[in-house]
Amino acid sequence: MSKKTWIVTGTSTGFGKSLATYLAQQKDVNLVATARNTQKLSYLDQFDHGQIIKLTLDVTNENDVVSVINNTKSRFKTIDVLINNAGIGYFGTFEESNLADARSMFEVNVWGLVNMSRAVLKTMREQKSGTIVNFSSIGGLASFPTLSFYHGTKYAVEGISESLAEEVKDLNIKILLIEPSGFRTDWAGRSSKKVLPDIPDYQQFSKFIEDNENGAHHEPGDPNKAAQIIYDQVTNNPNLPLRLPLGKYASDTAIEKYEKNLNSFKELHNLSTSADSPEK
Ligand SMILES: NC(=O)c1ccc[n+]([C@@H]2O[C@H](COP(=O)([O-])OP(=O)(O)OC[C@H]3O[C@@H](n4cnc5c(N)ncnc54)[C@H](OP(=O)(O)O)[C@@H]3O)[C@@H](O)[C@H]2O)c1
Repeated sequence: MSKKTWIVTGTSTGFGKSLATYLAQQKDVNLVATARNTQKLSYLDQFDHGQIIKLTLDVTNENDVVSVINNTKSRFKTIDVLINNAGIGYFGTFEESNLADARSMFEVNVWGLVNMSRAVLKTMREQKSGTIVNFSSIGGLASFPTLSFYHGTKYAVEGISESLAEEVKDLNIKILLIEPSGFRTDWAGRSSKKVLPDIPDYQQFSKFIEDNENGAHHEPGDPNKAAQIIYDQVTNNPNLPLRLPLGKYASDTAIEKYEKNLNSFKELHNLSTSADSPEK
């Protein structure tokens, strides 16, 4: 059986841990499990029979990125699947958010994913095959109060991925966006900073932030099921979709958002087209 090499970012907890755990048990997988602190990856030891390497990777550190790619190639030769999973959150109203924290989140969620994707593309082009799985969110398609900057990161991931997919489609490189709704991971808890509103006009949004904090690890989504679905889609679906909402809320919200936009675009069609110069 020919093995595929999978690199996963952020495998200490959450989706990344579920993915690494599942991939570590697949016969056709060589696994590169990465984390800022590889001591958190001892859960993989029970599955390791020489097909797993654990590497230190902060996705914002370009030296780490180069080192992960070099180590992967020297050990396993190919890079077949990259899962850009690492990501953090931030809750706060647009006016009251700390912009330094918002910028740090863009460094991880957007530029970290860009760093890793650019680092694997040369190899994938030479192989004439590869898949890049980018963790977006239902928050990359639809927006909620107090998450403006998080949405900014995930909408950026969507746009970058969609454009890249067009550039590499003839090179047999596929891009898959994962768009989960609430899943039982550390995201809404330790991985998201939260700023409760001080301004009285925004008090109504405190509850939403507190509910997210308190709801962490009680979300409907099961990251182990997500891991199986992602492996199965990448491995067995020759017509991989560009976008994959995960969870009922994600699917319902995506459909509702696109239907609403579609209806609005149609209603505005005459007005929209009237802005062009008359055809010569
Ligand atoms: N859970 C949800 O409901 C949900 C919904 C939609 C989208 N997502 C997305 O799913 C992805 C995974 O998050 P999760 O839900 O699994 O949350 P999580 O359990 O908090 O996991 C986040 C992972 O990202 C890692 N990470 C953070 N900053 C990093 C950096 N600079 N370099 C490398 N790794 C870094 C964390 O490592 P450390 O242990 O070192 O902090 C951790 O392994 C994220 O992109 C998130 O936006 C989650």
